[in-house]
Amino acid sequence: MNDAVLSPPPAGTPGGPKVLIEVFGCQMNKLDAELTVGALRRAGYDFTDRDEEAAAILMVTCSIRDQAENRVHSHLGELALRKQLEPDLAVGVLGCMASREGQALLGRWPALDFVLGTRDFPQVARVLDEVRADRTRVVAVDGDDKVSEERDITVRPHKSRAFVTVMRGCDKRCTYCVVPKTRGHEVSRPMAEILAEAQTLVADGVREITLLGQTVNAWGRGEGRSLGELLAALQDLEGLDRIRFITSHPEEMDDELIQTMASCTKAGLFLHLPPQSGSDAVLRRMARGYTADRYRQIIEQLRAAIPGVAIGADIIVGFCGETDADFEATYRLMEDVRFSQAFLFRYSPRPDTPAFSHLVDDVPDQVKRERLARLMDLQQRQSLERLQGMVGSVHEVLVEGRSLRDPEILFGRNLAFDRVVFKGDESLTDRYARVRISEATALTLRGELLSAADSPVALQV
Ligand code: 5AD
Ligand code: SF4
Repeated sequence: MNDAVLSPPPAGTPGGPKVLIEVFGCQMNKLDAELTVGALRRAGYDFTDRDEEAAAILMVTCSIRDQAENRVHSHLGELALRKQLEPDLAVGVLGCMASREGQALLGRWPALDFVLGTRDFPQVARVLDEVRADRTRVVAVDGDDKVSEERDITVRPHKSRAFVTVMRGCDKRCTYCVVPKTRGHEVSRPMAEILAEAQTLVADGVREITLLGQTVNAWGRGEGRSLGELLAALQDLEGLDRIRFITSHPEEMDDELIQTMASCTKAGLFLHLPPQSGSDAVLRRMARGYTADRYRQIIEQLRAAIPGVAIGADIIVGFCGETDADFEATYRLMEDVRFSQAFLFRYSPRPDTPAFSHLVDDVPDQVKRERLARLMDLQQRQSLERLQGMVGSVHEVLVEGRSLRDPEILFGRNLAFDRVVFKGDESLTDRYARVRISEATALTLRGELLSAADSPVALQV
């Protein structure tokens, strides 16, 4: 089974034509896939995770690095033969690749029936009906800036946790990044709409909401609003216990947000704030809009206002022109900041980005690999030290479920988003467990269950 396939399949309309959905890429794509599932279910479709039963195969795709795109291309290649034997099979590409390549995808892959961009997926049911009835081929990639967020809240993989889109698109122009091309202009959803969705989710059992946006801390700017205001409103929503928001941009960090985080007990302990590089020359070529010193200053402010706050990073190594000295600056930034988690990437040139047309991808792949390995090693050591420092402390864990490897073990996360595992009964899923930490690896805290509850008690990490 392909690990991108939604499995087990979501509940659909029993007896309807079966659709298999594969999702690649980020959380934003996963949520768009949930909205797509809701739209198809309303239109009478059912779902499967078994290739051979599928009447339609839909891929929600990612363009961020070439690997993500290559997987989709090779799958589309494999489907050519199957399509000859089963001409009624409908095949669709949605998401970032659809927006980036549009019509060209249909030209390249005869097995493909339709292409729907990141702002066009709400039409999915109509387009799939049309393709299946008339065997036409459809491309829709110029959707309106304002995307219909119509949502069936029962389509979500976890009872106690949900994601909410608060903004779409991105108005930054980081030179390596394809997202402005694939997801278009930044549009914030109105506060009232977000709060109403959050209320509905909480009434249905959600305890933790993650707000999603490409530059989530710029939310509401155009309308004179701020993410701080939204967090404060959500802090007052009874029944909601935890709020996360990804991804923040250092250029958009301000004192108000830091102060709100400090006073917002539901959101305070984790911030995903990608530096991308620790070298000013590289940051300039990336057009990130801040220096390494400014980044350090934000971290200092955060740590002064919120003791124990965990910071998450994304870092790219081997960007155009990155010298050994530039890389060492990134290494030092990581050493100094001590991130709680870091997503580390080798630069992958993307067509349709400023770096692709104006800069040279001149760092040899072997050097990129070596630099990546050094950062991974550093992160591993720092994570281990950080988590081992927590041995003996008590954490409140929102339990996510049973471990796949050992059915006696449950896993969940503490307020700082660290993964915690402990022995316990499955009935604790979606509840809060107080766990005393007894050991740690670089990725996981392990502990013993002290007590369980339906609501959180205020506990400091
Ligand atoms: N190559 C490598 N990594 C990239 N990212 C974005 N574009 C590229 C690229 N062209 C990384 C950034 C971003 C994360 C989602 O993916 O670090 O924050
Ligand atoms: Fe998400 Fe970026 Fe991939 Fe688009 S390109 S799916 S926004 S990670």
